Amino acid sequence: MKQDFLIDSFGRRISYLRISLTEACNFKCVYCLPSGGILSSPSGRYLKLDEIARFVALAAGLGIEKVRLTGGEPLLRPDIVEIVRALKQIDGIRDLSITTNGSRLELFLKPLREAGLDRINISLDSIDPERFRRITGSRNSGAVLGAALSALRAGFPVKINAVALRGLNEDELLGMGRLAEGNALEVRFLEFMPLCGENWSPEYFLPISEVRALMDRHFDLVEEVGGEDDTARVFRIRGGAGKIGFIASLTESFCDRCSRVRMTADGKIRPCLFSEEEYAVGHLLRAGAPDEEIRAALRLAVKMKPKGNEFRGNPYRADSRFGVAAGEYPLIHKVGG
Ligand code: 5AD
Ligand code: SF4
Repeated sequence: MKQDFLIDSFGRRISYLRISLTEACNFKCVYCLPSGGILSSPSGRYLKLDEIARFVALAAGLGIEKVRLTGGEPLLRPDIVEIVRALKQIDGIRDLSITTNGSRLELFLKPLREAGLDRINISLDSIDPERFRRITGSRNSGAVLGAALSALRAGFPVKINAVALRGLNEDELLGMGRLAEGNALEVRFLEFMPLCGENWSPEYFLPISEVRALMDRHFDLVEEVGGEDDTARVFRIRGGAGKIGFIASLTESFCDRCSRVRMTADGKIRPCLFSEEEYAVGHLLRAGAPDEEIRAALRLAVKMKPKGNEFRGNPYRADSRFGVAAGEYPLIHKVGG
């Protein structure tokens, strides 16, 4: 049978699905928090293991090859290992990964490895305990870095995501680069994006070009060609063990190469990270709707994928709904808070 692919209105083939498994999180990262605090949906509304597996199997039939499990914090999902095992068995899924805050990762390394997880991304914006606490609200920085190194030893390819924040972790970025010099992992620097959190402000925005220039001054970086990643520019450190990646989400839009859609924990397909548009499919899965109805919802979501996000080339757009005046929201967790 001819392969039926998901092609959007701009000719991009969609092959990458990010699935949020829960909205719950044990961290309160400053850039992620909505101003009113987190209002998670009741967990009963989250897609269940068999619903997720069925959706992914149908999506794989339409050419989805990569699946990333996210949250909230995906390791708070009690059935995370079973989910990984089930998705890994689906034909066509050749890359199954997870993005975690790392706080509980050490406990899960062995079962996740056995269940077939391919790769792990860990969010770590600071390696200084006090700074880490100010950014995430957690005292667990040691556990996170420890888990990253254990994950490497357990045989996982590991990427560390560090959001570059002007005035907050700027002076630590080189130290984070050194992590990649000494260990066979990839440290990727991300621009601070105006996402769900309402703490975004130009005051904290650090363009990736500055981070790149800093790394270039200290490391001999050799660009990797043909990496399968569609968002990062990745460099090997000559004479070092690992790699450094740069993700310029705002200043150099990569929308042209976008291959992804997301699924929220309660079963809504989001064609774009930056758009609130969603296409509900959870109720269809829950009701046991026919395959064709579920495929149609996914096809529709892909068809509605926008060409690019509204920030292309203009991260400071004042009239955007994310246009929060600098200093309007406190970006730092209160001491003891
Ligand atoms: N800007 C940039 N990165 C963000 N992340 C979460 N919110 C933002 C934001 N506003 C990152 C986390 C994690 C990944 C899932 O996305 O640090 O690594
Ligand atoms: Fe939790 Fe990730 Fe949000 Fe931090 S960025 S609060 S770890 S979901």
